[in-house]
Amino acid sequence: MGQLAPSILSADFSKLGQHISLIEQGGADYVHMDIMDGTFVPNITFGGPVVKSMVGKTAVPFDIHLMVVRPELRIPDFATPQTAYITVHQEACTHLHRVIQQIKGLGIKAGVALNPATPETTLDYVLEDLDLVLVMSVNPGFGGQKFIPSAMDKIRRLDKIRKERGLSFKIELDGGANLQNAAELTAAGVDILVAGSAVFGAEDIPQRVRDFKALIK
Ligand code: DX5
Ligand code: ZN
Repeated sequence: MGQLAPSILSADFSKLGQHISLIEQGGADYVHMDIMDGTFVPNITFGGPVVKSMVGKTAVPFDIHLMVVRPELRIPDFATPQTAYITVHQEACTHLHRVIQQIKGLGIKAGVALNPATPETTLDYVLEDLDLVLVMSVNPGFGGQKFIPSAMDKIRRLDKIRKERGLSFKIELDGGANLQNAAELTAAGVDILVAGSAVFGAEDIPQRVRDFKALIK
């Protein structure tokens, strides 16, 4: 059964609390929070103070996606009591194994994200330590981009690897998800679907969350 993690990158930041309540009403499983540093990706979004201000304002757990260089310096800022996952980019970590242990040491599930051009084989030696692999299906940095089809192949390969090796990491897909491709992505192995513009661009946000959930259940 698939879960939905609406990305607040596409929410109205002046109404962040209200927009998180709307996705909660629709039954969102996680709030996906995109942290961008202006160096790893061209944009800057928000940091620890904004994330901490949301603790206790919603019951929905946080799914933190760190698009930052040297994530080991930033991880403690996002280790709130409501943080379910912290995901770092493979491309941003010189010592990936150590960073994964750092996240887990804080009692938080650890994820690693792969840019569209990064092969899943780069994770061969850490898959056993991982709770989540995030497959980027757009180049990170912006919402509302077009789905890159090769991500589908990467999902299928990761799903095959976890079955063959008897591993239990979740597969998350981020970028260009919509009502048209949601069911196919779930069938290919996606456990957690991130959707930004396709959720917050809707007139009726709770209903859009329910529509997604019906497709990925
Ligand atoms: C992109 C972010 C995504 C983004 C997805 O760098 O990591 O989470 O919000 O947006 P959509 O769903 O609009 O492609
Ligand atoms: Zn993201």
